[in-house]
Amino acid sequence: MMQKRNLLCLSRALIAALLVGASSTALAGPIVIKFAHVVAENTPKGQGALLFEKLAEARLSGKVDVQIFPNGQLYNDNDVLLALLKGDVQLAAPALSKFSKFTDVLQLYDLPFLFDDLSAVECFQQSPAGQEMLRSMMSKGIFGLSYWHNGMKQLSASRPLLRPEDAQGLKFRIMSSDVLRAQFEALQANPQKLAFTEVYQALQAGTVDGQENTWSNIYSKKFYEVQPAISESNHGLLDYMVVTSLRFWKGLPYDIRAGLKEALDEATAEANRLADLQNSEARLAIQASGKTEILSLSKQEKQAWRAKMQPVWSQFREEIGGSLIDAAAACNG
Ligand code: LMR
Repeated sequence: MMQKRNLLCLSRALIAALLVGASSTALAGPIVIKFAHVVAENTPKGQGALLFEKLAEARLSGKVDVQIFPNGQLYNDNDVLLALLKGDVQLAAPALSKFSKFTDVLQLYDLPFLFDDLSAVECFQQSPAGQEMLRSMMSKGIFGLSYWHNGMKQLSASRPLLRPEDAQGLKFRIMSSDVLRAQFEALQANPQKLAFTEVYQALQAGTVDGQENTWSNIYSKKFYEVQPAISESNHGLLDYMVVTSLRFWKGLPYDIRAGLKEALDEATAEANRLADLQNSEARLAIQASGKTEILSLSKQEKQAWRAKMQPVWSQFREEIGGSLIDAAAACNG
């Protein structure tokens, strides 16, 4: 009798639990995917993120709610990876320069004059070695889903930079990368790590004298308004890795994961196709503003910058891996 009553209680409890479970699933609604980044919407990454939102929500209608937070609204790049690991955001796309706390190999992409242009970058990123690097932070819980391009960096400062000596003694804002620090030290300049969201003010106030960035970032964040000269140096690369946390990604139902990946692949192809064009348009807009001077470098001048910066390669060869550097350099031409 006692046993029967116990069984009855147990089955009531089970039914109640199932009902609560069912109603909380019904109430849970779509899976929220927060994607935080630091740049403006009218940039290659800003556009890529919006396109991903559109494609993912169309493909997985009602099942996912992608929320994009641009302009460092939610996190700057120094915090976003920790937020990702804590589950406060589900996607991020920091510059490849901003992963050094998690892996050494991505420092490759910061080596000055490593890639001639985005087709060389694409060649390397699509190679088995480039694809393997997407998985270089798995042991730390971070999973790379794809590479997004921005483009080649230009150098701007409070005075014209034509020869490497012109940079001597100036303070340059850099991303949080030791390779970039070494690059400016090689010029006998003074590198300062600073979050992207603080650059405009630092340039305006003169707490730093210069910076390196792509045309689209220089334009959309108005750096050109507070820098009298920009040298068209194309000396380095600013690209991104779209990352998620392994825990979030593995916890997704299979159909959602597959749909998100397809949407991301489609957004990646389109955003990467348009990145060069967006940078050229930003360059033209900066030129048309008349607020700064764009300086082209002669072949000899460019060679002088290369000669001054390139010793950084050997400084980091062991940490990054010599064969990776060779494979990346072989993608030029
Ligand atoms: C920077 O900090 O300069 C860039 O990483 C910003 C960005 O995400 O393009």
